[in-house]
Amino acid sequence: MLNKTKVSDPKLYEIVEKELKRQESNIEMIASESTVPVEIMELSGCIFTNKTLEGYPGKRFQAGSHVADELEILANERGKELYGCDHINIQPYSGSTANYAVYATVLKKDDRVLSMRLDQGGHLSHGSKANFMSRFFNFDHYSIDKETEQIDYDGLEKKAEEFKPKLIIAGGSAYPRLIDFERIRKIADKVGAYFMVDMAHFSGLVAAEVIPSPVPYADFVTSSTTKTLGGPRAGFVMCKKEFADALDHGVFPGSLGSMHLTTMAAKCWLFKYAQGEKFRSIMRQIPINAKTLASELENYGFRIVSGGTDTHIVLVDVRNKNITGKDFDDALDYVGITVNKNQIPFDPLGPAVTSGVRIGLTSTTQRGLREKEIKQIASIMNRVAENTKNKEELSKLSKEAKELISKFPLYSDEDLKEIM
Ligand SMILES: Cc1ncc(COP(=O)(O)O)c(C=O)c1O
Repeated sequence: MLNKTKVSDPKLYEIVEKELKRQESNIEMIASESTVPVEIMELSGCIFTNKTLEGYPGKRFQAGSHVADELEILANERGKELYGCDHINIQPYSGSTANYAVYATVLKKDDRVLSMRLDQGGHLSHGSKANFMSRFFNFDHYSIDKETEQIDYDGLEKKAEEFKPKLIIAGGSAYPRLIDFERIRKIADKVGAYFMVDMAHFSGLVAAEVIPSPVPYADFVTSSTTKTLGGPRAGFVMCKKEFADALDHGVFPGSLGSMHLTTMAAKCWLFKYAQGEKFRSIMRQIPINAKTLASELENYGFRIVSGGTDTHIVLVDVRNKNITGKDFDDALDYVGITVNKNQIPFDPLGPAVTSGVRIGLTSTTQRGLREKEIKQIASIMNRVAENTKNKEELSKLSKEAKELISKFPLYSDEDLKEIM
């Protein structure tokens, strides 16, 4: 794939090669990452990159669109089949832009939106002060219950009754449990709000029917394609049929420009692949691996936020080990286990330090790691937590981690020839 670049720009090729080596030798446990099939990379760089296109099949703004029309129609059909939705739009460039497209569809300036607090697992694009959307719409947030560390649905209902939002958003970046979509749908109906689910993180698990789908309950469902779904760097949005035309207008021209036909081709391939047994068996294994990691870490004395997980995410409170999330994140990185520091609900520490880490099990499961290896990773993590400042011990643990992951190649030799 990079044969030409290797000759025309060896310096850049070297950087790409370095990243390949980094991924190969590290245990990647960032919850939003995955290891994609080679076809995703092939299609993400395919000939469609030469084509500029706006609009929709049959209603394009540029000529020469008949082949791209075939692509978009096929991808839409496959996406609808995969999720059983009324309507899908696969033009969004990412999960965030899929969210903005829904805002463009249903909201007017200063409208009220209710979403989960960012520091309790929500997402920046759901109205964080740091995100420019908060300048246009009036966001308020619901919380996690202090005891269960799961969504406080009674609190959500009370807040919705008082705040009277036009849109309620469920879904987040660091929420490891199932969401009661039916309950939130009822709350949305009670207060006359639209209901949107951002399933960016768990859309792969939904596709494989490993966890319940929000599609029957939500007016709009948005997603990235890069997380559990394991696809290109892109997104998509689905809706009930009554919103189809409005949503398409909200995507283009409402919030986006010309579509990225290359990642659209990769999404088309992905939506077929995700209906197959290979994908589905990996998805079934992800929560098994996540539960294994959670219970092992708990046995080692870590506290697992919400007491466990139903998804690919394990949110760990590291305070019992007398360290911060940053200390743990840095020490694990030194060892070659990549996670991210993350605030836990009601965290006394800020986002730069944190009391926790967020661990994702997608990439390791895709590489073939099962319960036995996950238990070994938990044991390494525990020793790292107890030796965050001991470089000698960390170096030994790094050797152990690298030995473990070397048995699970990132890509086969045949695939590597394609990639590089
Ligand atoms: C819940 C949620 N929504 C949206 C996004 C943004 O997705 P993207 O990075 O594809 O824009 C993320 C990314 O982490 C996320 O966790």
